[in-house]
Order: sequence, then C-alpha cells, then structure tokens
Amino acid sequence: MTNPFKPTAGRIPPILVGREEIIEDFDYALKDGVGSPGRLMFLTGARGVGKTVMLDTLGTHAQKQGWQVYNESADSGFTQRLVDSLTGKDTTRISAYDMPSVGLTGNTGNLELSLGRIELERKEERSLTLRQAVGKRLDKMNENRQGILITLDEVQSGSMDEIRAMSTAVQHLIREGRNIAFIFAGLPSAVNDVLSDNAITFLQRAERYHLGSVPTEKVLKAFEESFSGEKKAGMETLIRLTNATHGYPFMIQLVGYWAWRVSETNGHVNQVTEEDAVKGIEKAQAKLGDMVHAPALHGLPSHAVNYLLAMSVDDTVSNTGEIARRLNRSPQFANVYRTKLIENDLIEPVGYGEVAFKMPYLRDYLREHGAYLQMRENISERSEN
Ligand SMILES: Nc1ncnc2c1ncn2[C@@H]1O[C@H](COP(=O)(O)OP(=O)(O)OP(=O)(O)O)[C@@H](O)[C@H]1O
Ligand SMILES: [Mg+2]
Repeated sequence: MTNPFKPTAGRIPPILVGREEIIEDFDYALKDGVGSPGRLMFLTGARGVGKTVMLDTLGTHAQKQGWQVYNESADSGFTQRLVDSLTGKDTTRISAYDMPSVGLTGNTGNLELSLGRIELERKEERSLTLRQAVGKRLDKMNENRQGILITLDEVQSGSMDEIRAMSTAVQHLIREGRNIAFIFAGLPSAVNDVLSDNAITFLQRAERYHLGSVPTEKVLKAFEESFSGEKKAGMETLIRLTNATHGYPFMIQLVGYWAWRVSETNGHVNQVTEEDAVKGIEKAQAKLGDMVHAPALHGLPSHAVNYLLAMSVDDTVSNTGEIARRLNRSPQFANVYRTKLIENDLIEPVGYGEVAFKMPYLRDYLREHGAYLQMRENISERSEN
C-alpha cells in the first residue's frame, strides 16, 4: 500500500484537517454572487501552516462551480504573467489597446517630471491591461454562471508596484460588477507591510483569515482514518503521533509519512508499532528543521534570529527583560524584534513580560543549530564592517 501522507510544500494533503470554516465561507461567497465580501480574501500564517494548500483547495472549489482559476506567485512580473495566461499567451501588450501614448512628449526640458509620469503611466498601463484581460476573458464566458478566480501567493512588499496596479484593477472590476474573486496569501508580516501601503486602501477592506494550528482532536481523527485500512496503529500510538504534531499542518504530513515509512523499513506491513512511531517522530522533527525552520530563519533579520537564540536557552518561557540583557540591547530595541516574531507566529506572549516558542520544535532546532547560526551571523557582521 502506498504511503498516504505527502509532506511536500504546497501539495493538497490526502486529508485536509480543520479548515472547514474558510472553505464554507468561500463556497458561500461563490454562490452569494457578484460583490459578496468573501470574494476578496487575504490568507496569512506561518511557514508550513497550509496557505498554498488553501489557495489550491479554494481554487478547486471554484473550478467545480465552473469558474476559471489563475494562480500566480507575487514575484516580479506577475501582472504580465497573469495577462499572458488570461489572454492565452497572445501577449496583448498595452499598445494593442487604445491607450494614450507613453513617452517624453512635450517637456523634454523637465526630464524628472517626465520620468515620473512614465512610472505613473506604467502603473496605470499595467492595471488597465490586467483589468481588460480579465474583462475580455469573462466576455467569452457565460458570466451568469462562471467567474474568474485569481490567487496570488507569497505576497511581499518587494512587488509593491505590481500589487498597487493589481489593486486598482480589482477595484475597477468589482465596481463594474464583474463575476470575479481574488485571494492573496503570505506571511503575516509581509501581508501587514503590503496592507500598510496607502495606495491600496481598497484591498485593506478584504476579509482576512489567519491560519494557525488545527485542533488536535481533528488530527487524531485524521490519523485514525489513515491508519484504519491495511496498516493499523493502536490508540496509544495514534495519540503519540497526534501529540507530536502540535496541530501544525506540515508536521501532520511529516509525522504520518515517517511513521508509515519506518514501519515499512522495519517490515511491519500491517501495523505501525510504538517503536516505529517513536523513530518516525524523530525523523519528522529533523525534516521539519530542514524544510521549515531553516527557511523561516533565513527570511528573518539577524537581530530577530538572535532574539530566538537568546530564548532557546530557556526550557519553558522567557522573560523579555532578561532576553534584552542577554542580547546586550535596550528593552525597546529587543521589543521591535519580539513584535515581529509574534506577528509571524514564531513566538507568542504568554504572560506579562513573558514569551514562549509557538512554532513546534523551533527551540530544539535552535539548540542544535545555534552555534552554526551564531557563526554565520558573526561572519556576516564582519563582512559588513
Ligand atoms: N489543513 C491541513 N491538513 C493536513 N495537512 C496540511 C494542511 N495544510 C497543509 N498541510 C500540509 O502541510 C504542508 C505545508 O503546506 P503549504 O505548503 O500549503 O504551507 P504554506 O503555508 O504555503 O507554507 P510556506 O509559507 O512555506 O509557503 C504540505 O505538505 C501540506 O500537504
Ligand atoms: Mg506556500
């Protein structure tokens, strides 16, 4: 029997645990018709919590209703890529539309002003091209029954210009009463950065869903179901596996996958023993480090990593004043990084002046890799000086 667990980023899991509410809200928005608030949505959450999977899942739901779905990642050039796929690659550049000409017409003496105008026109151009591409595609569909869903993953402020252009396009399309929906996803701090831009007040009104861990009862149910066919596991083992996930979605796949795989290696065709489970959990933890913790830490400012390293010394909660002392920084300075780490679901406030790790196994990872991380940090500081 093949392993039913799939610890692969962005892959829809065989059993999607605990996201019923968002799915229901989105299904409702699809049926609710043009202008329904649930058709404009932001999904945020830590790495590996299942944002990409949700985009795909909601996309599948839209497709089932006869909608066309376009998925993009918000790196440079995404507006053009969207236009390309909406127009079936016959890249309808702006010149094909009846647009005011772009150029240094007239005032060549004031170059700066003209360049500023070009930038502005480029943004308007982008937004109009996208708006028209969506409009034209919808014109070819039965818009009473079909719509267009665009999903944008990995939203980050590096692509602000294009996101502004997209926001304008979305605003116009909604105002025109077109049958559309947009879902954006990104890390919480990245989405907050994007939404603080004044040029996209329109998008600030989108519905926001913060994806967190899922209830462990639901994880247990999913494990019970997965280990009820040819390969079984006793209740004690199932509970052990469940607890090891801490309800964190990526860990559900990793734990399930490795418990299954270790049982195969140990020749236990029809069952997962306690011993298999213990070994599987160990493997899953190590993989979580490589697949989630390492990239998550890599994306953080070095002071934030130092904050985490300072916390990893403690066995349970950490005192924020003490952390600042360990870092040899003022409490105000340390607080900036504390806030960022909380925002990204890596740590959480647990009491007055206290924080704790929220991302499962991050403390263990830091303890194991702390020396290495510190060394990398010292090297980069030296090369900056
Ligand atoms: N609700 C869920 N139930 C079970 N497994 C899930 C769930 N959501 C996600 N997963 C699994 O977790 C893993 C990570 O999911 P995904 O790649 O969507 O996370 P992400 O939030 O997009 O992460 P990143 O920020 O790194 O892009 C995948 O293996 C996926 O199958
Ligand atoms: Mg993702």
